[in-house]
Amino acid sequence: GWHRDLPRPCLGEAFFCLEIAGLGLREMTSEIAVNSNTTARVLSGIQPSGVLHVGNYFGAIKQHIEHQDRFPGDAFYFIADYHSLTTVGDPQTLADQTQGVALDYLALGLDPAKATFYRQSDVPEVTELTWILSCVTGKGLLDRAVSYKDKVQQGINASVGLYTYPMLMAADILIVRSTMVPVGQDQTQHLEITRDIAGSFNSAYNTDMFPLPDTLLNDAAVVPGIDGQKMSKSYDNSVEIFATEAEIKAKVKRVKTSSTALGDPIDPDTDIVFQLFRLFGHPDEVEELRNGYLAGEIGYGKSKEMLRSVMTGYFEPYRARREELENDSDYVEDVLQEGAKRARAEARFTVDRVREIVGFSSSAGVGAAK
Ligand code: ADP
Ligand code: TRP
Repeated sequence: GWHRDLPRPCLGEAFFCLEIAGLGLREMTSEIAVNSNTTARVLSGIQPSGVLHVGNYFGAIKQHIEHQDRFPGDAFYFIADYHSLTTVGDPQTLADQTQGVALDYLALGLDPAKATFYRQSDVPEVTELTWILSCVTGKGLLDRAVSYKDKVQQGINASVGLYTYPMLMAADILIVRSTMVPVGQDQTQHLEITRDIAGSFNSAYNTDMFPLPDTLLNDAAVVPGIDGQKMSKSYDNSVEIFATEAEIKAKVKRVKTSSTALGDPIDPDTDIVFQLFRLFGHPDEVEELRNGYLAGEIGYGKSKEMLRSVMTGYFEPYRARREELENDSDYVEDVLQEGAKRARAEARFTVDRVREIVGFSSSAGVGAAK
């Protein structure tokens, strides 16, 4: 395929390495090269459309951070701010939430020496790729997207952007030629659409330009909210990752329970307190709650107290780090800028190839990262 035959973009690469070395991150240099082969590569995006909650953490963020060690130099995570324009109209809110997501990820363990972390809007090449891909995508494919219908039903403005949201997401994924995308269950259709689009492009132009990415789901693919529906910032049922003790206490109090009489067994598999507890608790504690429920020895008073306690403790170690980062916005900005440079080198490489493939004859010259 093209990946092996093409010369690597050496000039851009050398320039890039030098810059990174200048920052004292020399150990990264071997991984900075634009990757032009079929290496396993993981990418995911998270929208800055609200404050991140524990559903986002267990469904997505936790595995993002784990994967940085499995695929050092080949993990790409970005803040999907172009996507959030479909729902966030206020500029200050968008800026604040973007900063919040950056702080959360870095506090929770994202390591910029292992993963490339950037703002989507710092890589404007994705919008160009979006357009090109949209020309090989049948409209019917987007007509079948359920998230569009869901969002319109929730009262979100039915803009063209909202409609073509999955196109932009496909471009995010394909522009760095990722092979794996860790997300929660609700994103699986978007990944099917992405594979469809990648396949359409490859066959329309008789190329193997784009790998077809796999969806990576973890065992918390759907975290319930305090009302038992999928936890979502839009349903008023979420618990924020960095909620205060008082907020956690109030939320746990509101967790929906069945009307089981005290002393009667509770089915852990349908119980929301248990579904949440199993994410936070140590396996031994989870067993203890399961057995206590089944034996009728633990009721909601006790289980909610157990839940409150593990929820409060779980993110405690990350809190100090987040406060530290909050006072060091220059560092956070540097991380995002460096991430953008690296992601952009990948994006430029892909887009230059794509421009050539579709027949734009000036492709070599346009904005090349040299
Ligand atoms: P929300 O539903 O609150 O709007 P997003 O759609 O912004 O959340 O989701 C961001 C990421 O978190 C996605 O990868 C999504 O799959 C994951 N996610 C969101 N809510 C949950 C949940 N309740 N359980 C598991 N994963 C979730
Ligand atoms: N649509 C995703 C969500 O709402 C966010 C997202 C945008 C994304 N682009 C992506 C996720 C690319 C994975 C890969 O959660």
